[in-house]
Amino acid sequence: MKRIIDRIKEETEAAFEEAGFDASFALVTVSNRPDLCEYQCNGAMAAAKTYKTAPRNIAEKVAPALQEKAICKEVSVAGPGFINIKLSDEFLAAYMQEMCADPELSVNKTVSPKTIIIDYGGPNVAKPLHVGHLRSAIIGESIKRMGRRMGDTVIGDVHLGDWGLQMGLIITEVHERHPELPYFDESFEGEYPSEAPFTIGELEEIYPAASAKSKEDEVYKAKALHATNELQRGRRGYMALWNHIMNVSVTDLKRNYKKLNVEFDLWKKESDAQPYIPDMIQMMKDKGFAREDQGALVIDVKEETDTKEIPPCILLKSDGSSLYATTDLATIVERMKLYDPDEILYVVDKRQEMHFTQVFRAARKTGLITDKTKTSFLGFGTMNGKDGKPFKTREGGIMRLENLIEDIDREMYKKIVENRSVKDKDAEKTAEIVGLSAIKYGDLSNQASKDYIFDIDRFTSFEGNTGPYILYTIVRIKSILTRYKEEGGVIEGKILPPAGEAEKNLMLQTARYNEAMENAYAEKAPHKICAYIYELSNLLNSFYHGTKILSEKDEDRRTSWIMLLDLVRRVLEDAIDVLGFEAPERM
Ligand code: ARG
Repeated sequence: MKRIIDRIKEETEAAFEEAGFDASFALVTVSNRPDLCEYQCNGAMAAAKTYKTAPRNIAEKVAPALQEKAICKEVSVAGPGFINIKLSDEFLAAYMQEMCADPELSVNKTVSPKTIIIDYGGPNVAKPLHVGHLRSAIIGESIKRMGRRMGDTVIGDVHLGDWGLQMGLIITEVHERHPELPYFDESFEGEYPSEAPFTIGELEEIYPAASAKSKEDEVYKAKALHATNELQRGRRGYMALWNHIMNVSVTDLKRNYKKLNVEFDLWKKESDAQPYIPDMIQMMKDKGFAREDQGALVIDVKEETDTKEIPPCILLKSDGSSLYATTDLATIVERMKLYDPDEILYVVDKRQEMHFTQVFRAARKTGLITDKTKTSFLGFGTMNGKDGKPFKTREGGIMRLENLIEDIDREMYKKIVENRSVKDKDAEKTAEIVGLSAIKYGDLSNQASKDYIFDIDRFTSFEGNTGPYILYTIVRIKSILTRYKEEGGVIEGKILPPAGEAEKNLMLQTARYNEAMENAYAEKAPHKICAYIYELSNLLNSFYHGTKILSEKDEDRRTSWIMLLDLVRRVLEDAIDVLGFEAPERM
């Protein structure tokens, strides 16, 4: 469906031409004086220069022509030549009706779908998920859903960190604790046990213990580095142990992401890229891109226009081992080979921006990607506590994602039970659904690149710009619709022109859904969807408070209101689905 602003623009263009002026001057914007009109055109100002006359003369010729159009109720000229447009109520009602009949709710899917890989989540195997990974999962999931909603082919890849020092640390620690295990016996040729020598609980204790030791004990650290290297060279026993770590850890990760309503298409990992490294390095050497620098192999990526220092991208350390950048480059090789995407988008902590600048430049310079493929980095800010410092537990430790979710759910449960509208059995389930909205909306309603304060009290509130408030609005509509149906009503019929100001404003905002979704996706900005639905919810609630819907005597009017309510519900539910959460039936 055409955007409402574009429809207005078309008519304004026609009016300019009818009045003898060029259509290109007919720029239309949302009014900055909503008390006077809904849309405005300031084109007479620009046209005045071309036609060498006062803007007001132009506006006064265009306005009567525009007034003739069916979409307009009232067109007036204000100040030096602003054209103020009030939309016709019939036009608005017809737009609503058309939206009702449209399964896409007016959103225009892209004409030429692109293939986009989103690299998000990025948890590290065997380390517990912490809040730092929360943002990547929440934002990435939302952008993936937005892309799909808009018709692109989006592939979400979790890109597990499974190949770094943490693996060597775990192997070393398991070795210290259980030297008798066959994994450490190099002469062992039999089959390794199929059961892992640890549970997820133990694994999560092993890693921090090993990490702490390595910081204090040089010998221990050297052992861990050596184990990492041996693993990367494919030592049989270590590979078997690595497999156990992977299985135990991935099962746990999947369970956690499920709770967050986050779903990956690919569970690729850093180690999957390793086979591509040797050829890639060879090519970079052969073509003269890579050079040696103090024993290491590097690619220069600085450019003349740089305003800050961009250090070379390091491919191999002096001992020949690969690094984070090497893996990311090799992952690009694999992604190009398997998916040939139009874009690869990384949703990662903004502190990694330099790394990605280096990787993108190196990839382009060496031809791993061509101009056809776009690389983008969406760097997000830190989630802070109320004290403005990175979010911690009450004891000051790193907050685990699971505990954070539990805290929110408990808080939500309390509020829902206070509300008493849900029977106890359902209350827990409802608390989970609403709790997720609190976490996700609390995150997504901020511009991703900014730091934000994670405030449980505020996020779980049923009032204000929060997830629970949006859900509360949806549930309110659902309950009206249910009562209407119970009384024998059917949601079908004609949407009438708005009966009052609040209803008109609600329709106007509803009509802007396509614009909101399309712009949010173009800018990869979920916070714009949040802002849109917050405003829509406010308008719905004002309308609701001022209108006795179910007791309305005029049947056509009642049906029309119900139709509008149902449309708003669909828009809200569609939007929150894109944000990655859902509404309960009651709350
Ligand atoms: N595992 C990394 C971390 O925890 C994030 C990975 C991001 N993705 C990537 N392709 N480098 O910081």
